[in-house]
Amino acid sequence: MKKSYGEYFNKPSLKSARKRLTKDTPNIDFQRHINIKDVGQGKHYLIQTYGCQGNEADTETMKGILEALSFKETQREDHADLIILNTCAIRENAENRVFGELGRLKKYKRINPDLILGVAGCMPQEEDVVNRLLEKYHHVDLIFGTHNIYKLPEYLESALMNKERVVEVLSEEGSIVENMPKKREHHSKAWVNIMFGCDEFCTYCIVPYTRGKERSRKPQAIIEEVKELVKSGYKEVTLLGQNVNAYGRDFTDINYTFADLLDDLGQIEMPRIRFTTSHPNDFDEQTVKVLAAHANMMPHIHLPVQSGSNAILKKMNRKYTKESYLKLVQTIRKHIPNVSLTTDIIVGFPGESETDFKETLDLVEQCDFEGAFTFVFSARKGTPAANYQDNTAFTEKKERLQRLNTIINAGYKRGHDRFKGKTVEVLVEGVSKKDDHIMAGYTRHNKLVNFPGDVSLVGTLLNVKVNETKTWFMQGEIYEDA
Ligand code: SAH
Ligand code: SF4
Ligand code: F3S
Repeated sequence: MKKSYGEYFNKPSLKSARKRLTKDTPNIDFQRHINIKDVGQGKHYLIQTYGCQGNEADTETMKGILEALSFKETQREDHADLIILNTCAIRENAENRVFGELGRLKKYKRINPDLILGVAGCMPQEEDVVNRLLEKYHHVDLIFGTHNIYKLPEYLESALMNKERVVEVLSEEGSIVENMPKKREHHSKAWVNIMFGCDEFCTYCIVPYTRGKERSRKPQAIIEEVKELVKSGYKEVTLLGQNVNAYGRDFTDINYTFADLLDDLGQIEMPRIRFTTSHPNDFDEQTVKVLAAHANMMPHIHLPVQSGSNAILKKMNRKYTKESYLKLVQTIRKHIPNVSLTTDIIVGFPGESETDFKETLDLVEQCDFEGAFTFVFSARKGTPAANYQDNTAFTEKKERLQRLNTIINAGYKRGHDRFKGKTVEVLVEGVSKKDDHIMAGYTRHNKLVNFPGDVSLVGTLLNVKVNETKTWFMQGEIYEDA
């Protein structure tokens, strides 16, 4: 058989990706199994990241691997020998942006025929995307998915040395790869994966197909990573998973939950711990109590609700009701009274009526959210909801989104107003985009604050008095004790 695509040619299958056959998760040690050579000597790379924090964390791993291979990072497309787009498949417009970008990047292949253009992340996990790339985007040299980032050294060797086109996407349940190198984006806050994949199968969502089965990292590996970050001077970690509250559910040898993990991390001298994302169905009172008990657990919880209509929640396979969600919010507020709650909402899910939508508005009013990511439903091929009957016009969906956003934006403002005149702790992240003398950072409640200061403050925790509040940020000044 002619190997027209070189040594590697493995296409994805959404049908196989749906399967959940075994609870066992292979653990792979990167340092022991992967052969690192200097293939990137004298070469530059650039990675563009789309999608969620999970993808941002994956980009940090790709950068770590590339630098171990002696590549250097560049921000200039015309200097790059390797450009990778780390993509997201969650909604159609996210995908369209990537196809547009691939068209735009073609000109750099003409300038530098040796440039390697790669597509990674969640989009290659979809067979339609890979077919389209193979048919119409001949200038893409490297295609790999979410399960095989650790094989990047092999792929690059084939692409660079043998000038082969590499296409390898695995539609397996997934493994856990430990000890991969990482080049972290920030110096004071870090992502820490605690689990991968998702077994929820919300009917609209592509993630369980692109990320494989739910699998948790061993507690010890997570605890060690956080301790190392403390040693390196990090002030904040965000624990990552598609449904962090399901952490540990897949362990066959130990009984250890998300609450146990938080309790253990609560003892470590990491000043700030956050996590995302929570699924309301698995968020138990024990977890809330542990959060309330440790000063380094930040009082901000992102708790996606998606809809306030029980009929729609059922069709979405969310496994909770409007009433049980409100009860959970009550429990959280009982234990963490000053908590800031944010959420995700989808409008225009197939079959959503005006009455269903009003249930969502009512829930939003009752929960007093201080922020939300709001989306119009996007049909994802291969998911059940893509085949549901949908009679609502797109213009009407857009109109619902606007009505919802008006209420959500008032919530953002209220969330800031409650700190007016108060002193808040800020982790300084950098200078404001508009002015070099204005610093920007986030409070414990995850609110953006700008204040006059200088660059030497970056990475420190300090107190800021809030003077002004806007919808998207607060303004203040450094508070110095008399
Ligand atoms: N695992 C997380 C979020 C994953 S995706 C969770 O369950 O909360 C982030 C958000 O994108 C989701 O919360 C949902 O609001 C939105 N989303 C997912 N699939 C979508 C689709 N097909 N159309 C529109 N929005 C979608
Ligand atoms: Fe998607 Fe639902 Fe899993 Fe979140 S919990 S990633 S929305 S399937
Ligand atoms: Fe997108 Fe994949 Fe994350 S689809 S939201 S990048 S898990």
